[in-house]
Amino acid sequence: MNTKVSLAGVLLKNPVMTASGTFGSGAEYGELVDLNRLGAVVTKGVANVPWPGNPTPRVAETAGGMLNAIGLQNPGIDLFCKRDIPFLKQFDTKIVVNVCGRTTEDYLEVVERLADEPVDLLEINISCPNVKEGGIAFGQDPKAVEAITRAVKAKAKQPVIMKLSPNVTDITVMAKAAEAGGADILSLINTLTGMKIDVRTRKFVLANKTGGLSGPAVKPVALRMVYQAAHAVSCPVIGMGGIATAEDAIEFLLAGASAVSVGTANFYNPYATVEIAEGIENYMRENGIEDVNELIGAVKE
Ligand SMILES: Cc1cc2nc3c(=O)[nH]c(=O)nc-3n(C[C@H](O)[C@H](O)[C@H](O)COP(=O)(O)O)c2cc1C
Repeated sequence: MNTKVSLAGVLLKNPVMTASGTFGSGAEYGELVDLNRLGAVVTKGVANVPWPGNPTPRVAETAGGMLNAIGLQNPGIDLFCKRDIPFLKQFDTKIVVNVCGRTTEDYLEVVERLADEPVDLLEINISCPNVKEGGIAFGQDPKAVEAITRAVKAKAKQPVIMKLSPNVTDITVMAKAAEAGGADILSLINTLTGMKIDVRTRKFVLANKTGGLSGPAVKPVALRMVYQAAHAVSCPVIGMGGIATAEDAIEFLLAGASAVSVGTANFYNPYATVEIAEGIENYMRENGIEDVNELIGAVKE
């Protein structure tokens, strides 16, 4: 039975990855989860310098999900390279570094710094604010998506995953823009912008007022967008958004994802990733599927 999948020539032992920001840089979960069982570990977003993140409260529960406005708190690339990459290198799993920045130059600094590090793939989070363009996220303007992809590709030594924002009218426009800029792989979805108000205090629950919605509540939207994006481009797509079980993951594979990332589910079930990898194998055994690649895009029209 083959569970290996290829992402731009990088071979993952199975299609199960962690979603950025929900698994630390592996160390927090390392005691509970055997990282050798995962196709890849995707790190929390890292910037050129440390970011303190947003004021608290910055997470809140919602029906079937959660809101977060962490604000991409991270230790900066120097500490990350010294502490987190050597930790992850101990395991037989692929390392994907999620990169964030406020300007194109910020992103490029991190990408160049990672060129000589033992990192397998870069995931570029373009939902961060673009300060120079007036605070609009790069990921909401197709011209900006194409330009940042092209700029990153010109400097990157590793294959580049462009992580798309779902907060757009037509995801296929953004997917095509990233592919036009030279993206090797796409990943989606990031969180959907939401809000929560406390009716007793009549205040916003999050200090930031708005936050990103994730978890099972977003899965049908994510699945629809992954299906649309996978049919709009020819590069591989990594699907995520509300995946909590093997059945959820298989839905994304059938919709056209070559691999999946598990995010919010880790918070209430730290074993979710390994259970999903095992569940995919069980499904393959029960259904006589020899190669997991047979499932990719195999939904019947
Ligand atoms: C607390 C939290 C922090 C996150 N931080 C990042 C991040 O640093 N970079 C990024 O690209 N996505 C980040 N995300 C988005 C997730 O990687 C994922 O795209 C999203 O949560 C949807 O998947 P899920 O429903 O399985 O959580 C974060 C999500 C959560 C809940």
